[in-house]
Amino acid sequence: MIHLRGRTSDVLVDVSTGAPTIVHWGAPIDRLGDIDDLTAVIERPLVHGSADVVGPLPVVPEHGSGHTGRPGLLGHRRRGTAWAPRFAAPIDGVGYELDGNRLVVHSRDEIAGLDLDVTFELDHTLLVWAELTNTSTDERYLLDALTITLPVPQHAGELGSFAGRWTREFHPVRIPWSHGAHTTENRRGRTSHEHPPLVFAGTPDFGEWRGSVWGAHLAWSGNHTIFAERLPDGRRYVQLGELLHPGELSLEPGASYRTPEVIAVHSDRGLTPATQQFHRHLRARTTHPTSARPVLVNTWEAVYFDHDLDTLRTLADRAARVGIERFVLDDGWFGSRRDDRSGLGDWEVSTDAHPNGLSPLIEHVQGLGMDFGIWVEPEMVNPDSELYRAHPEWALTTDGYEPVLSRHQLALDLARSEAFEHVLGQLDALLSDHDIAYVKWDMNRDHIGGSNADGAAGTHAQTSATYRLIDELRSRHPGVEIESCSSGGARIDHEILRRTERVWTSDCNDALERQTIQRGASMLIPPELMGAHVGPERSHTTGRRHDLAFRAATALFGHLGVEWNLLSLDDTELDALAEVIALHQRLRPLLHGGDAVRFDTEPAYVAHGVYATDRSEAIVSFATIATAISLTPPPLLLPGLDPDRTYRVERLRLPGERGGAGRTEPRWCSAGAHVTGLMLATIGIQPPAMHPDTAVLIRLTS
Ligand code: DGJ
Repeated sequence: MIHLRGRTSDVLVDVSTGAPTIVHWGAPIDRLGDIDDLTAVIERPLVHGSADVVGPLPVVPEHGSGHTGRPGLLGHRRRGTAWAPRFAAPIDGVGYELDGNRLVVHSRDEIAGLDLDVTFELDHTLLVWAELTNTSTDERYLLDALTITLPVPQHAGELGSFAGRWTREFHPVRIPWSHGAHTTENRRGRTSHEHPPLVFAGTPDFGEWRGSVWGAHLAWSGNHTIFAERLPDGRRYVQLGELLHPGELSLEPGASYRTPEVIAVHSDRGLTPATQQFHRHLRARTTHPTSARPVLVNTWEAVYFDHDLDTLRTLADRAARVGIERFVLDDGWFGSRRDDRSGLGDWEVSTDAHPNGLSPLIEHVQGLGMDFGIWVEPEMVNPDSELYRAHPEWALTTDGYEPVLSRHQLALDLARSEAFEHVLGQLDALLSDHDIAYVKWDMNRDHIGGSNADGAAGTHAQTSATYRLIDELRSRHPGVEIESCSSGGARIDHEILRRTERVWTSDCNDALERQTIQRGASMLIPPELMGAHVGPERSHTTGRRHDLAFRAATALFGHLGVEWNLLSLDDTELDALAEVIALHQRLRPLLHGGDAVRFDTEPAYVAHGVYATDRSEAIVSFATIATAISLTPPPLLLPGLDPDRTYRVERLRLPGERGGAGRTEPRWCSAGAHVTGLMLATIGIQPPAMHPDTAVLIRLTS
């Protein structure tokens, strides 16, 4: 039994079970007593009507050992053999290696000719991954699935999942988990809008600050499956892994497959403390951006494909005037890309759109004190492009079938070395020939029926090749930051974030929608990585109108940007936007360095904020997103501050916001108030009476 101690949770692993078994994942156990006693009191009894063993539930559960739920390893050899492997500690080798909080457990099935190594790392989060090796000398192993199984306690009777689609990503949903299994399967070839690879299990009615929560994320940007099952004997587990198409992976003799990392969090104090561990995990990575996140302007909704140097220069002038720090030139600068029907794949500056190249614009932008960013979509090709005309065979399609187009485009088979080298060469030249600080890396179509050169499913190889392409480009251009975009938020996961500094959270810049989208996304990523733009008054994707204060209050918390045709603003509007940007820049160290928090309230409201890590200050947003059942919002409880500290509470007004008429505002909004953290956690603070589509910002200082 190996005891791993993390920052907030402990894990107890039984290494005597072949594939290792997590016996405890949760609260620190040092104070609970002796491990022998602990395992004695939680040992499961045999039940009538079942096998004479309690079916073990290791990290890779085995049908052959008595697990009647979904096995962790699915595969076989040519004649259907080796389909129910059973792993044991290697007789002639080391069973496990322990190095601090990293444990690697080796196991072997001599009969099936397979080795299984499972690695655990416990710090802020629990990381688990497995590697399977085909030890046969002459037979390949056809792998259908290798997933990671994490047991959760029997009292975790509710699941937290997400529903999404384009422009409506990360909507949290709750699912009662009484019996049977809940599955999500993603076959879109990207992380997806629909099913972020993230699941929570918790005690019934777990909240942001109440209940026990276990969360797991699959760090992978391709297809995936998430399975949460309650077995008939009452045990529960979540299982996460890559979803492989039929025949997609076969292991030649000696070859291995390593699963993506499963990143897991736990808290007995609710969802917010649990998800903060995902943030800490990302922040601890060496690639995490440490410089202040530059406020950017993105040209997409300002000009779309209509690139004109004078217009873009004026846009840059106005951006600089309002305090913007980065100018990002979106789609439309290359090849024949005057609309979305052609040009993808031809990563050379269009002389049509930019007759003198990009330098006049870049120099202008830099002269104004901003750095320059550019949009690319390197994994794609339009059939109407020079590249496709020269190399139709490089597209990820299946011979003999008419390919399904999506946004008039196809994916390029980056697993083909010629295609990979070609795209790498073009991107490398783009970054070498221009002074570019930032790349918005887009990916705008699902993989549908895409086969590699041998006619086999190509998503696994494509996902790995995309990682390699970004990694190679980063090593050649180490200073360049990359944003992960995929028709908005279809590629948001911790593996893409190993090699990117920002995600484009959604193509929806409607503040009302963004309140929920960003709340959901904050369950996986911290605010400084979350692209959030102030869009135009009338949202391009929903047609709704919102005043600047609501749009600003919504975007303020993330990596702020502006996606609005600044040429349409008068001086008063530009001044108001400048005020918002200056406020963000003032608050930025707190917003991007503190602990992101969310609060439970009624469905008509969304409440979230950021607490300084030392709890000396905070900023909280309370937004009304629908008409509420009561005329007055309920008091907002703010748990998790320093109970003994006295905070000055004041309302932070955004441009255009005036004091409430009459007594629609409680006194603290105009006069401020001094209250303790204990009072804020137990009695709370009364928000003003608000109409929908407004937000109040609450500033707490001590
Ligand atoms: C989809 C992205 O999400 C948008 O922000 C924009 O970059 C377009 N692609 C450009 O084609």
